[in-house]
Amino acid sequence: MIQAPRGTFDVLPEEAARREHLESQARRVLSAAGYRRIETPAFEATELFARGVGEATDIVQKEMYTFDDGGGRSQTLRPEGTAPVCRAYIEHGMHKLAQPVKLWYLSSFFRSEAPQRGRYRQFWQVGAEAIGSAHPETDAELIVLLADLLDALTVKDVHLRISSLGTPETRVAYRRELTEYLRANQDALSEDVRARIEVNPMRAFDSTDPRTREVMREAPKLLERLSDADAAHFGAVRSLLDDAGVAYELDPTLVRGLDYYTRTVFEFTSDALGAQSGVGGGGRYDRLIEQLDGAPTPACGFAAGVERMLLAAGELPVAADVVDLFVACAGEDPGANKTAFELAHDARRAGLTAQLELAGRSLKGQLKHADRIGARYVAIVEDGTTSLRDMQSGEQRETAARNVIPTILRGHWQL
Ligand code: HAM
Repeated sequence: MIQAPRGTFDVLPEEAARREHLESQARRVLSAAGYRRIETPAFEATELFARGVGEATDIVQKEMYTFDDGGGRSQTLRPEGTAPVCRAYIEHGMHKLAQPVKLWYLSSFFRSEAPQRGRYRQFWQVGAEAIGSAHPETDAELIVLLADLLDALTVKDVHLRISSLGTPETRVAYRRELTEYLRANQDALSEDVRARIEVNPMRAFDSTDPRTREVMREAPKLLERLSDADAAHFGAVRSLLDDAGVAYELDPTLVRGLDYYTRTVFEFTSDALGAQSGVGGGGRYDRLIEQLDGAPTPACGFAAGVERMLLAAGELPVAADVVDLFVACAGEDPGANKTAFELAHDARRAGLTAQLELAGRSLKGQLKHADRIGARYVAIVEDGTTSLRDMQSGEQRETAARNVIPTILRGHWQL
């Protein structure tokens, strides 16, 4: 038996209905704030992600599905949506539109990660990008919109952490300072932290070793090294969140797995998820458009995992399938089959939902089936005659086939 590849899954009809609900909530929340839908291709030039997401990131180093397109060009299944949306912004000259250009997407992405609950190799994200605004209101608005979406989807036990990364220049200087501090205190550090001083000094903040933690309490913090302009920007974002009543935790150790971030970064987690607790995150990426050969353009955005939101959501209202009419056919007469087929087709064109018997059941079997699928009416087409049965009242009358649809639309029998 051939099975779906490891780390992928089928979306069966019941789950599809929950996803449709999620999509309609995303559309409602984001279009109310002026975000318009965009879809980019499922694969892009590998260079886009190498330059956009960053050569040194786990995503680019280990997680991309990359292939030769047959013409000697390296292509990659998109592992994320921000770099592609920026590519589209540049390619279509969207800098000529009123700024910021606000775009949202609901698309599938691909990362070659070890599969587990909430972590897949093909997964979906709802994302939003506001390109062309440096204002702190943009950062705060995006955070509030994602909070609203999670709330609308009843995602449980949500926490928000935020931080600011300043500029790449501030980070380089800070990293040097932190590395020096760690080297000066290396005797008090745990062995694994000591081994990683040069590779990833920031990891020392995550250590659970008591002596390392003591050293880290006094360590220089990036948030204390921000330039005045970056600190003012972050202060403005925080005060907008405070005013909006959005609770957050300041987390100076928040690092995201993508290299393009500048200034604000944020992440929503849910305790209802296991190890993969990140439901959505994002931040500002003021250098990315320029890095992809566009004009310097500030931007900010987020993406949230569809599967993780659904895993952490409560019960969602799912619209029941409505069947207005089931067309049953009895007898062998080809004329009856033709009448039944036409009746179902005409009913759909008149705006009703209508199903035709397609499995060769007996009349009794067809009526049972109509009942099971919750049909409101059943038309029984027999050799030469047609009857209509109201499944709620059980009343059945013989009628001309042409009267079936008007009767259903009217909702009662013609007196
Ligand atoms: P990200 O944090 O890499 O950010 O992914 C966003 C969300 O996608 C995660 O919080 C998680 O819910 C979901 N996700 C990521 N990987 C997987 C996976 N393997 N399986 C299931 N869900 C997953 C970005 O992708 C950025 N583009 C966000 C952004 C937009 N920043 C600025 N604008």
